[in-house]
Formats: sequence, structure tokens, C-alpha cells
Amino acid sequence: MKQPQVLVFDSGVGGFSIAAGIRAELPGVELRYLADNAGFPYGDKPEAVVTGRVVSLVRQALAEQPVDLVVIACNTASTVALPSLREAIATPVVGVVPAIKPAAALSANRRIGLLATPATVRRPYLDGLVREFAADCQLTRIGQPDLVHWIEAWVSDPKALPESALAAALVPFREAGVDTVVLGCTHYPLIRAQLQMCLPEVRHWVDSGSAIARRTRHLLEQAGYAALTAATAGPVSAGFTDALPLGLEGFMTRLGLAPGSLTGGWPLAAPVTGAESA
Ligand code: DGL
Repeated sequence: MKQPQVLVFDSGVGGFSIAAGIRAELPGVELRYLADNAGFPYGDKPEAVVTGRVVSLVRQALAEQPVDLVVIACNTASTVALPSLREAIATPVVGVVPAIKPAAALSANRRIGLLATPATVRRPYLDGLVREFAADCQLTRIGQPDLVHWIEAWVSDPKALPESALAAALVPFREAGVDTVVLGCTHYPLIRAQLQMCLPEVRHWVDSGSAIARRTRHLLEQAGYAALTAATAGPVSAGFTDALPLGLEGFMTRLGLAPGSLTGGWPLAAPVTGAESA
């Protein structure tokens, strides 16, 4: 039986945190990565632009090479684009949304912090999650617009992270006395160690990585795939809609994702322009 193939999509390098979780849990899954870094960051784009780009790019990726499952490894895109994407393609789609439910289950003092993009912290989808799962918690939201840029730059130069600005951005969590922080953007688990150093008093740091790996396993098993953990799939190919980030290969290797073919300026034949990105 052929190995199952999963396409992992994000606006930038954040989705690699999700891809790494899938690779660690399900090494038999063939992974392809697609980053819309020409549209980055999604966190300051109107919802219609984000949805248009996600639908257009994922359709083009599937036309080039079909997969068994698409993972939208971006909270900012998932909280707005999933219904349109599911209507547009027949392939099953898994989305990533802030882990409010597990955070509420862990918090002892009922004070939770949400660190996400400016778009995610104000999405009605998020308010729905809070009403449903954390109605008895006090939620402090930080939608820091620079953080994703810092992390993209950190991939190319690990010394580039502005640590004092990072600590300053997190002050509202300290003031609110949160004991649990939700990493509601897939870029943030990449710098979990640095975040923990800024707020050593926080007891739980929660992201969606392991839940997405579990969901991926469930859907692939339902589709009839076995041996998801026994075999080892090949290297991870990646397409970026703009130039490849400097240091990408070393970064992927550190995450346990052997780099395969890496393409900048994807899709080469039909760039995303005009109405779809306007
Ligand atoms: N990694 C994306 C997320 O999970 C966000 C980055 C962006 O703003 O484009 O929200």
C-alpha cells in the first residue's frame, strides 16, 4: 500500500511546528509543505483576502499533486477560511484553532492568556470557543503584530529574536496572573523555550500540535491506511509563494523534517495575483 500524503499549509514557517508534530507521531506519512509567504502575514489581512488566497493556493497544490489530507496549519486562516475551503475541494481538511478547551481544563486559577495574531484574537470564532469551553475563565488576549515577523527572521538568524521586546509584549499576562497560556498561532511553539523564559511563573503552555497529529492519524486510519508509525516516509518537500527563507534547510532539519525539494516562487506557472490577492 502506498504511503499516505498530507499537505500542510501556512502563511509562513509556523506550520512547520505542526508538520514536526505529525512527523514525530506518524513517521510513515509523506509530508508536503506549502507556505504563502508572498501573502504573509495573514494576521493583518482582510478575511476575504485570506480566504481567497488559501482556497486558490490549496486548489493549485492539489491539481499539481493530489494528497489524502490537507492540514491548514494556521489559526488565522483556519478561523475564517475552512468553510469555503471545504466547499471548494473534495479532499478532507483539518484546521488548527486556538486550544482554548484544553487550556480551560488545565487552568487551576481560571486565568488564561491567549497569544495569537491580531486577527485571531478578535475573530467571532474565538468568542464561540471561549463561550463554549472557558466561560468561567478570565481570558487575557495579546494580538502582537510583530511576533510572527520576529519568528520568520529568527529562522534565518537565531540571534535575531528581540528578547526584551518579546518580554515587554508578554507583560499583560504577568499583570493578569495567568497560569496557562494558549499559543494560538502556529509560529509560537517554535520559540516556546524563549517564551517560557520570559514568564517562568506560567504553569501550562498549550498548543494544538499533538491534537492535530491525533486527528490526522484518525482520518488516515479511517481512510484505510495502516503502518503510519512503522514505516518512515521520505524527505519533506516545500513550496513557498515568495523566496525561500534563508536557513530553511537547517531549520527543517532541527525540527526532524529532512528537507526534500524546496521551491521558491511557487506556483511557477500560475502566480496568485489580481482578484485573488486583492
Ligand atoms: N501561523 C499563522 C497562525 O497560526 C499566522 C501567521 C500570519 O499572521 O500570517 O495564525
